[in-house]
This record gives sequence, structure tokens and C-alpha cells, in this order.
Amino acid sequence: MSKQLKWSDVTPKADFLNRRQLLAGAAGMALAGPAMAKIDAAPSIYSTDLEPNPLEHITTYNNYYEFGTGKGDPAENAHTLTTDPWSIKIDGLVDNPGTYDLADVMSGVSLEERIYRFRCVEAWAMVIPWIGFELGSLLNRVGVQPSAKYVAFETLVRPEEMPGQRRNILDWPYREGLRLDEAMHPLTIMATGLYGEELPNQNGAPIRLVVPWKYGFKSIKSIVRITLTGEEPETTWNMQNPREYGFYSNVNPTVSHPRWSQASERVIGGGLFAPRQDTLMFNGYEEEVAGLYAGMDLKKYF
Ligand code: MTE
Repeated sequence: MSKQLKWSDVTPKADFLNRRQLLAGAAGMALAGPAMAKIDAAPSIYSTDLEPNPLEHITTYNNYYEFGTGKGDPAENAHTLTTDPWSIKIDGLVDNPGTYDLADVMSGVSLEERIYRFRCVEAWAMVIPWIGFELGSLLNRVGVQPSAKYVAFETLVRPEEMPGQRRNILDWPYREGLRLDEAMHPLTIMATGLYGEELPNQNGAPIRLVVPWKYGFKSIKSIVRITLTGEEPETTWNMQNPREYGFYSNVNPTVSHPRWSQASERVIGGGLFAPRQDTLMFNGYEEEVAGLYAGMDLKKYF
């Protein structure tokens, strides 16, 4: 995997603008609002050479239950979320706990474009050109204490702006977690942008996790709290149904979801009758991450 050019460098500007116009037509104000500032980001050796899905796929086919369970609900409803001001509480086993303004979190970070494969547990897949920075760099700045073994994340709770939270669809706040070595892996990023612009609300603005070798539900959106712990944290989908959603949830074609096979996947945008493609072990990131799980029974720790 290597990539010297950013996607925005190789995409003719007319195409890029055209995408935005299409989207503005399809999804109203969600992306066309005044908050969408251009972001400068360096290309990354971790980007895939695959062609990203168009912006309109990535911003109109979403899972974000705080805004409803339908794939179009986030694009329709997420504009109501206030993302500025925003702060993140970082606590637990860290040297410098505190509630950090997003601007402080962002100051001095190196933003990169990371074009990643993205695979939902529902067996659909996309390629997404994220903008973000390595979570490890943030954790190093706050100082992880030696007893920390896991990182827990929480999404904002604000039912007045998040219609899905006014219903008991899930046990709010949405929670996720990683083992510390997974969190420190260079592929694990905090994303703040997409296609060279600020993250649209429906994709988890202003800041979300992206862990490309795990099923998409691990990539928690709109994060307001990061906690370093000694114990494996409780996570939303695992609590909801531990038989169906494991803590690890690494993409694995040989471990089926109890209700469907994970051996193949549907590429979003390919059309209803397009052939499915094979699911890749660790979503194609096996070379980079298999070592994290050496000696573990991946059927048991699914
Ligand atoms: N984060 C929160 N807070 N709430 C959610 O419902 N859905 C997850 C994940 N993060 C979700 C979330 C699921 S199931 C997936 S597949 C991805 O977000 C979808 O990300 P995308 O909409 O940007 O493609």
C-alpha cells in the first residue's frame, strides 16, 4: 500500500465540485453549509490505491442511530447537532487528565489524508478518503500510565439535538473501546474531515474514531470522552447482543455473524445486482495488524 498523491490532487476539480453540487441537491444543507472549511492534509503511506466512493455515497448512506435507524436518517437529521463549541474529556489512567477544547486537541497535530477501506458488520463496504491524525499521538500527549490496558470512547448525549436519543433504540451514550495496542496502532485515526473538507455531521463531526480493520460500529462518532482503563470497557453493541457483536470485531471472512455470512460483501454504489466481492481478512490490513492478535483464537475473541 502506498500513495504519494492525495485524492483531491488527482480528482479534477470540476468532478469534485460536481459531487458537492449533487450532494447539495440530494441531502439539502448537510454538506453545503458555511461550516465546511477546506482542510490541508498530507498524503499518507497508509492510504489504499483503491478509488474512493463518491462523496454522495459516503454522506447519504450512514449508520448513526442517534439520528435514526434508517440509512438516510443521519443525512436528513444530523444538521441539528451543534459541533462548535466542542470539548473532549480525557480521563482515567493518564498523566494529564482534563476537558480539552477541540482546538487544543487539534493544535500541533499532523493531519493526513487516509484513504481506507471501510467495512460495516452488515456486510457492505466503501472506500473513504478520511482526513485525520493518529490517535496514538493524542494519547502520547496526555501521557498514558503503565497500568492502562484499554481505551474507552463515548459519543455526545444531547437528546434535544439527537432525535434517536429520545427513543430507547440503544443504551445511550454510544460507547466503544479498543485494547491499548490497537489504539496506538498507526492505522487507528481520529478523523475530522472527509474529501478534503470538515467532517459532515452525519459522518461523526466534529471528531470520530476510524479503525479500518474492524467492523464499522467500532468507529464511534462525535466523541466527547476518552478514558484509559485497566479493564476491558463495556461497549454498546457488545452489551446489546454479546453473541452477535464481540469486543474485538475484527473483519474476518471465516467468522460469520450468527444471522449472516461475512465471507463476502456488497460494495456501496455497485448497484443491487453487482457481484459481491470477497471479504478480506482484517479488511485488507492483515499485514499491518495480524501481529496484534498473534496466538489468539480469533473464533473465540471475535
Ligand atoms: N457512532 C455512533 N455514535 N452511533 C452510531 O450509530 N454507527 C456505527 C459507527 N459509529 C454509529 C457510530 C456503525 S454501525 C457504522 S457502520 C459506522 O459508524 C458508519 O459510519 P459512516 O456513517 O460514516 O459510514
